[in-house]
Amino acid sequence: MMEPPAAARASCRRRPLPLLPCLLLAALCLPPALGLYTVNAVYGDTIIMPCRLEVPDGLMFGKWKYEMPNGSPVFIAFRSSTKKSVQYDDVPDYKDRLSLSENYTLSIKNARISDEKRFVCMLVTEDDVSEEPTIVKVFKQPSQPEILHQADFLETEKLKMLGECVARDSYPEGNVTWYKNGKVLQPVEEVVIISLQKIVDKSTGLFTMTSSLQYMPTKEDANAKFACTVTYYGPSGQKTIQSEPVVFDIHYPTEKVTIQVLPQSSTIKEGDNITLKCSGNGNPPPQEFLFYIPGETEGIRSSDTYVMTDVRRNATGEYRCSLMDKSMMDSTTITVHYLDLQLTPSGEVTKQIGEALPVSCTISSSRNATVFWIKDNTRMQTSPSFSSLQYQDAGNYICETTLQEVEGLKKSKTLKLIVEGKPQIKMTKKTNTNKMSKTIVCHVEGFPKPAVQWTVTGSGSIINKTEETKYVNGRFSSKIVIAPEENVTLTCIAENQLERTVTSLNVSAISIPEYDEPEDRNDDNREKVNDQAKLIVGIVVGLLLAALVAGVVYWLYVKKSKTASKHVDKDLGNIEENKKLEENNHKSEA
Ligand SMILES: *[C@@H]1O[C@H](CO)[C@@H](O)[C@H](O)[C@H]1NC(C)=O
Ligand SMILES: *[C@@H]1O[C@H](CO)[C@@H](O)[C@H](O)[C@H]1NC(C)=O
Ligand SMILES: *[C@@H]1O[C@H](CO)[C@@H](O)[C@H](O)[C@H]1NC(C)=O
Ligand SMILES: *[C@@H]1O[C@H](CO)[C@@H](O)[C@H](O)[C@H]1NC(C)=O
Ligand SMILES: *[C@@H]1O[C@H](CO)[C@@H](O)[C@H](O)[C@H]1NC(C)=O
Ligand SMILES: *[C@@H]1O[C@H](CO)[C@@H](O)[C@H](O)[C@H]1NC(C)=O
Ligand SMILES: *[C@@H]1O[C@H](CO)[C@@H](O)[C@H](O)[C@H]1NC(C)=O
Ligand SMILES: *[C@@H]1O[C@H](CO)[C@@H](O)[C@H](O)[C@H]1NC(C)=O
Repeated sequence: MMEPPAAARASCRRRPLPLLPCLLLAALCLPPALGLYTVNAVYGDTIIMPCRLEVPDGLMFGKWKYEMPNGSPVFIAFRSSTKKSVQYDDVPDYKDRLSLSENYTLSIKNARISDEKRFVCMLVTEDDVSEEPTIVKVFKQPSQPEILHQADFLETEKLKMLGECVARDSYPEGNVTWYKNGKVLQPVEEVVIISLQKIVDKSTGLFTMTSSLQYMPTKEDANAKFACTVTYYGPSGQKTIQSEPVVFDIHYPTEKVTIQVLPQSSTIKEGDNITLKCSGNGNPPPQEFLFYIPGETEGIRSSDTYVMTDVRRNATGEYRCSLMDKSMMDSTTITVHYLDLQLTPSGEVTKQIGEALPVSCTISSSRNATVFWIKDNTRMQTSPSFSSLQYQDAGNYICETTLQEVEGLKKSKTLKLIVEGKPQIKMTKKTNTNKMSKTIVCHVEGFPKPAVQWTVTGSGSIINKTEETKYVNGRFSSKIVIAPEENVTLTCIAENQLERTVTSLNVSAISIPEYDEPEDRNDDNREKVNDQAKLIVGIVVGLLLAALVAGVVYWLYVKKSKTASKHVDKDLGNIEENKKLEENNHKSEA
């Protein structure tokens, strides 16, 4: 050691600090709480301690020491003023960490907790020794607290370890506080139990705080954010660091069961697929249920859905579902809408003109349904019913019905009505204005459309040069223009599958004036004419029928006698048949 003996003596002698300057500076240099100059250092940083003594004249050297808990000094650094040299004592704790500058400021690198001591700067002259102490405080900010050993889930009515909040390596030690949704969690017996553990690391002197939280949640804690904070002292006072918040899955039992019918929006109709869905409001939600179907007493075990495909009207009723333990139940009523339509007659129907045809379209339905009729794509105002069929009644009839409340519930049936009629003829004649020709018109009614032929007496030849009007509602007319030189008889023949009808008209020679029947008739007249024609036809038909009956009776009689003499003469039958054919021909020509 190069320390001069005088200085060694001086260092041992304690001198009171110069009082006045310090009193003046007290507000500045002394933290009031401690009453001594204090240096606050951050763990791991460099501690810088100015000497805080005025360098006196005749300074020989400066020294730094610290005081052991029992008060004994340990010298650590020396600087000679005269030789401008620096020496550091061999103290293991401070090896390679010290630096004493020219103005006697001592720096300690890599601050440790063990550096929290009282250090003293000494300046020594030939006849005096000045001392000035400095207190060192070291601070270490803890790590961000973490919630470890988190519970997978919490359960209502059960006290469970939620987790441990750990904040590591703090100095001085800190406190841990738990929060729920930003509010401090205070201990509550049997509900909130908090216990804090502080462990000091012997080698570093740093504290690790571990706070465990046991918690009994309620349903309302389902989305609660749990967090913890560590409160610690830093160089500038109290500080806080917060953990990341954690949300826990809270399990709670089902308190209510709900049954739903899917799809929810629409009404149900026959043929639909429906799904019953049952749910419980517990967490986790129940996975299995018992479904009760109308008419069945035993519940059907199923997952949360029960599917019914192509439902019928008999599926209407009350459906229920319950938890497996039957503790809770819910019910719903399902109405399966239906709509039946019956049309009589329907399909293709062939009727004779003048016949009556009652038509009925009846519906049966789960609700009031409306019926409407369409004829040949046109909506009808009334439903059809026929006391006497006309040709214009023929067509495609559709009876349709819908249930307004039930989307897509619509039924329809079709009646294709064909009105047949034998040909009917009415002939008219008119002398044309030039008096050189006559126009003969054959008005024909009938369905299917009759083919018209004209013949004229004398020559008997067929007249091809005719003009036909359009065939509408079973009617049309055929017209010829002739200039007869003698009295002639014109014959109009109309024929369809049903019958061949023949009508004749005497037309006198063009030179002989005669009365013309009116040709152009309006509809009212036409109706009358029609009626007359019908009457005539009726008589004709009556006569024909009488003839037919007579024919049949005769044929039966003949047949009977033929059967009796079957083997006698085969040719006889042929003769009879020929006879009958001839008769029939006469009949239609008549
Ligand atoms: C002492 O010297 C150091 C560097 O040598 C300087 O940073 C510091 O400000 C000085 N202190 C005083 C009190 O003059
Ligand atoms: C920790 O809590 C104790 C007791 O409540 C209190 O005295 C101390 O100041 C607290 N420390 C911190 C760092 O807040
Ligand atoms: C009902 O479900 C069956 C198959 O399960 C399907 O073929 C059918 O088209 C469904 N019916 C309706 C109206 O969706
Ligand atoms: C409903 O009626 C159908 C026949 O239309 C039958 O197959 C089915 O079993 C019936 N369902 C119920 C629940 O009675
Ligand atoms: C259904 O029809 C009946 C009798 O025609 C009537 O009393 C009832 O109000 C109707 N209901 C609806 C929903 O239109
Ligand atoms: C009428 O037409 C038929 C066949 O179409 C023909 O055989 C006949 O000669 C024609 N008669 C007259 C008078 O033109
Ligand atoms: C046409 O005239 C003949 C004699 O010329 C007569 O026998 C017949 O009855 C008349 N027919 C009609 C429809 O008037
Ligand atoms: C032709 O008919 C008229 C009446 O329409 C009659 O007066 C006349 O005698 C007839 N002529 C012959 C040649 O038959």
